[in-house]
Amino acid sequence: MSSSDPLGAHDWHDEGYIERWVTDQAATDDERRAHMRLLAAAIAADRNAPIRVLDIGVGYGALTEELLGVFGSAQVVGIDFSEPMLTRARAALERFGDQVTLRSADLQDPTWADGLEPGFDAAVSSQAIHNVRYPDRIRAIYAEILPLLRPGGCFMNLDIFSPPGDRSYAAYAAARAGLYRPPPIHHLGHAPPMPLRDHLDWLDEAGFAEADVLMKDLRQALIVGYRPD
Ligand SMILES: C[S@@+](CC[C@H](N)C(=O)[O-])C[C@H]1O[C@@H](n2cnc3c(N)ncnc32)[C@H](O)[C@@H]1O
Repeated sequence: MSSSDPLGAHDWHDEGYIERWVTDQAATDDERRAHMRLLAAAIAADRNAPIRVLDIGVGYGALTEELLGVFGSAQVVGIDFSEPMLTRARAALERFGDQVTLRSADLQDPTWADGLEPGFDAAVSSQAIHNVRYPDRIRAIYAEILPLLRPGGCFMNLDIFSPPGDRSYAAYAAARAGLYRPPPIHHLGHAPPMPLRDHLDWLDEAGFAEADVLMKDLRQALIVGYRPD
């Protein structure tokens, strides 16, 4: 298992850090949950169908909760490498019984998806994949997700993307100032550049069809791609 965050901005394996991080999320919960509901609503399936969904970087279970609010019969597999997060997810999602399966997996490890039964109707992720940091690894993860989907299945990644340059960074920071909390440290020039445009290219290269930006709210964006039929 890799040691948490290659940039050192987070300590995902530390109970005390996770407790503070999860508590802090309350400040942006309305914004985050609205984006998650949009993601769930964009999955083109019958709301009563027992769809299978993979939540990548499930954290404390917020996205899975929103998904199950929309798809009441869904089966969700959530993966994460943080035991403190998985403990919180187990508690938060207990009421859904065997509709939810949680397992430990490290996205830095190319074998992270071993043992997952393919054929998912959707693979989803919220604010998780950018934590992998290494652009080449993220690119590879997109390619590793594709075969987990059924033909026609979708990948929806709600994440934080880098502005393409200094001027756009300044514009984003100015626009955020009155709206949201200050940019976290990894938005301050320490992160490898990973503009949205690159991610769309990586989805194309991985073999996804119709790679697109479904929603963009300053640096948060929801990108999608579909496994060809
Ligand atoms: C910002 S939190 C988001 C959690 C959840 N998806 C949400 O939106 O509430 C990032 C999550 O990604 C997980 N994560 C970070 N790096 C990871 C890795 N290499 N493998 C698996 N999970 C990872 C963290 O443990 C954490 O739960």
